[in-house]
Amino acid sequence: MGKVRRSGLALAAVSLVFALGLAGPGAQADRPSNLAAWVRPDSAPYPTDNPFSPAKLDLGKRLFEDKRLSGANTMSCASCHDPAKGFSDARPRAVGEGGAAGPMHTPTLWNLAWTEQLFWDGRAGSLEKQALGPIANPIEMNQDLAALPGELSGDKDLEAAFARAFPENPVIDLDNIAKSIAIFERTLVSPVTPFDRWVAGDEGAISAAAKRGFALFDGKAACSNCHKGWAFTDGAFHDIGLTATGPGRGGTVGHPELFNSWKTPTLREIGRTAPYMHDGSIADLKSVLQHYVQGVMHRPTLSRDLPARLDLDAGEQADILAFLDTLNADPTALPATVAAVAATDPGPLAGGPAPARVEVTQRDTAFSVPGVRLRKGGKLVIHNEDTRVHNIRVFAADMDYDSGVQDPGQSVEVLFDHEGRFRAVCNIHPKMKMSVEVVE
Ligand code: HEC
Ligand code: HEC
Repeated sequence: MGKVRRSGLALAAVSLVFALGLAGPGAQADRPSNLAAWVRPDSAPYPTDNPFSPAKLDLGKRLFEDKRLSGANTMSCASCHDPAKGFSDARPRAVGEGGAAGPMHTPTLWNLAWTEQLFWDGRAGSLEKQALGPIANPIEMNQDLAALPGELSGDKDLEAAFARAFPENPVIDLDNIAKSIAIFERTLVSPVTPFDRWVAGDEGAISAAAKRGFALFDGKAACSNCHKGWAFTDGAFHDIGLTATGPGRGGTVGHPELFNSWKTPTLREIGRTAPYMHDGSIADLKSVLQHYVQGVMHRPTLSRDLPARLDLDAGEQADILAFLDTLNADPTALPATVAAVAATDPGPLAGGPAPARVEVTQRDTAFSVPGVRLRKGGKLVIHNEDTRVHNIRVFAADMDYDSGVQDPGQSVEVLFDHEGRFRAVCNIHPKMKMSVEVVE
């Protein structure tokens, strides 16, 4: 969707500016030049095998709040992902039906429509695949999955809701439960905030301190190396040097270099989801900043996207906090409505001959091309010209290639010995992907 969508967004921003009548020359005087990168999207991608429908949304919302989904019928998804608490639970670590705290902090569910890998360590590849996990998890909802459809059937009202949502296959089964919950989750797009109004041209929407804070966030403090784009996340995995150690992304993908790396969370509605981090170990935002300034543990797994040293005086820290506060919407605001569009694969380069060898580069967490064509038996050579460590994974029914950790300056060669369409993805920065079409 890359280019097409970005220009669409820029247009949307421009039209909003004009609609608000704020595009006067004076108002634009000291605006940062890169605000286009922070404009809210006007659509969200939905998988082609689970398109949006109002009936699925209605059903998914009901199931999200339905306590029958847990083993003892005392807990729903919303018990932990409470809308009033930013879809988190205000606890350091989640407490499941059995009453014991699990190992992880409950993350917000805002803006997951754009997230490629779910959970703090990215072990679930889609919202559909994720949805049944907490239901079955003994330390969460502790429900026997095989028994769940039976428990829900007999409820005529719910049966009718399933029939409306899935007219082709009107049954209460796990697949339909997962699909409808995933649709509901994709509609959780965080509401318009003062920051958005400022980006759209309203100079008075945020304070001078918040503007200075944003300049630091996107400048000297380098927070936007990782908290980038309108949802303030690169969807990637980093070790930010917290005292606690754990397998993180490294445990999921089997590369020890990625131990202690966890997914960058969105910062929208961040004022509502304390305490912070994957283990709930930091109580408030002031302490989060102090961590980045003076608490970072230096170790081999530390992300190269963190500045080597960060000096922020008390005034600068206060400015960043003022900026973070502009990412919270009015507490009564509803999720924003955006158009549901079908997700598209980055396509291969159109037509042309299929060579036996293609070279592409990686820079600034992107491949140089969205896709390539290759002759059967051909090689894809990928040069890491980035400052970051990457990983190349090609996973299909009949192929499983994993480059391991690919350091800056290093190249990898992937052999494609049979025809088909493949997708190469970086397991550290999952937004970085390209398609490979292999032909005879
Ligand atoms: C007992 C509290 C609890 C309940 C109940 C619960 N969750 Fe969660 N949820 C968590 C925790 C903790 C995590 C993080 C786990 C991890 O990353 O290992 C999580 C993670 C998630 C994520 C991934 C978010 C991200 O940013 O990657 C999604 C999506 C999610 N839950 C949806 C649901 C749905 C849908 C339900 C109901 C079917 C549900 N949860 C029930 C505590 C809970
Ligand atoms: C190297 C990438 C990176 C940089 C740079 C970075 N962050 Fe983070 N941030 C993360 C990751 C990853 C996490 C989650 C870490 C964890 O849970 O272990 C996180 C967590 C947070 C959280 C807690 C979010 C939550 O929901 O728990 C806040 C707030 C935050 N960062 C703000 C900032 C600010 C402000 C800056 C700049 C001073 C900054 N970050 C710089 C990657 C980064």
